Amino acid sequence: MTQPYQDELQARFGESVPLGGEVPQDAWLGRVLTRRTHRRYADRPVADALVRLLLAAAFSASSKSDYQQASAIWVRERARRDRLAALFPDMPWIGAAPVFLVFLGDARRLERIGELRGHRLDNGALEGFFNAAVDGALALQTCTLAAEAVGLGTCPISVMRNRIAEVADILALPDKVFPVAGLCLGWPAGQGFVSMRLPLAATVHVDRYDESRLAEAVDGYDRRRDARHSIKDRQRAPDRFGTADFYGWSEDKARQAAVPEGTGFATWLKARGFTFDEPR
Ligand SMILES: Cc1cc2nc3c(=O)[nH]c(=O)nc-3n(C[C@H](O)[C@H](O)[C@H](O)COP(=O)(O)O)c2cc1C
Repeated sequence: MTQPYQDELQARFGESVPLGGEVPQDAWLGRVLTRRTHRRYADRPVADALVRLLLAAAFSASSKSDYQQASAIWVRERARRDRLAALFPDMPWIGAAPVFLVFLGDARRLERIGELRGHRLDNGALEGFFNAAVDGALALQTCTLAAEAVGLGTCPISVMRNRIAEVADILALPDKVFPVAGLCLGWPAGQGFVSMRLPLAATVHVDRYDESRLAEAVDGYDRRRDARHSIKDRQRAPDRFGTADFYGWSEDKARQAAVPEGTGFATWLKARGFTFDEPR
């Protein structure tokens, strides 16, 4: 018997993934396995009613303690979008996507609710920040999967945090409200491609954390990914890191992460009411 999802798993992981038994066949699950980010969109509008439906789906995501600490801004005004897009000229899809949403971690609303009910509370500890960030990310991803289910393409935009002061000004963010990521939405202009993932041997642990076979798993992944789509001619910062004989995903990501990103975000959050302390 042929196992379902083998084409999808092959596309996602670049190798077969034995599941070891029968599994339910579901078309949506197959689409999740082959989902992909889209950064180019057809010249076709996305109806407002559909955006509202997707936002309703986004806010159907689960939420820590039912505190509901995600918010979103639907950036509709062209001038405001242009100001945002101008901050990131390397990512023209921010300005070009038919729809642009910004998902927020919102640790403020709970404090406001405390005020309304006469119970003063401070939600600026690490716990408040973390819960709001997780809720914002869950809403973002739920919106993504909902959009993809109806054939839309999406691209999350976390680069916004690199210009946090300007972004916060454009979006009029109050204290204790921060962007998790923007989200471009539109009908895809092309097929896009499935981005291969690390094998489950590297990302899934059974019963206890075990990284003893990480190097082997990453080497194999680098080779599979290179065979599908080589990036050997796009070596990052060769003046600093040299030119590698074999340039795979892990070399690229290690170089990328060696350069700090998001500098200033922690300082901005602290100036906006987050202490990151233990709760008191
Ligand atoms: C939280 C988050 C932030 C991201 N930020 C950006 C971004 O600022 N710009 C961009 O072009 N893509 C961004 N991406 C898209 C990733 O680059 C993309 O998900 C990754 O390369 C894997 O590709 P795939 O989604 O097609 O599998 C972001 C993705 C996530 C989850």
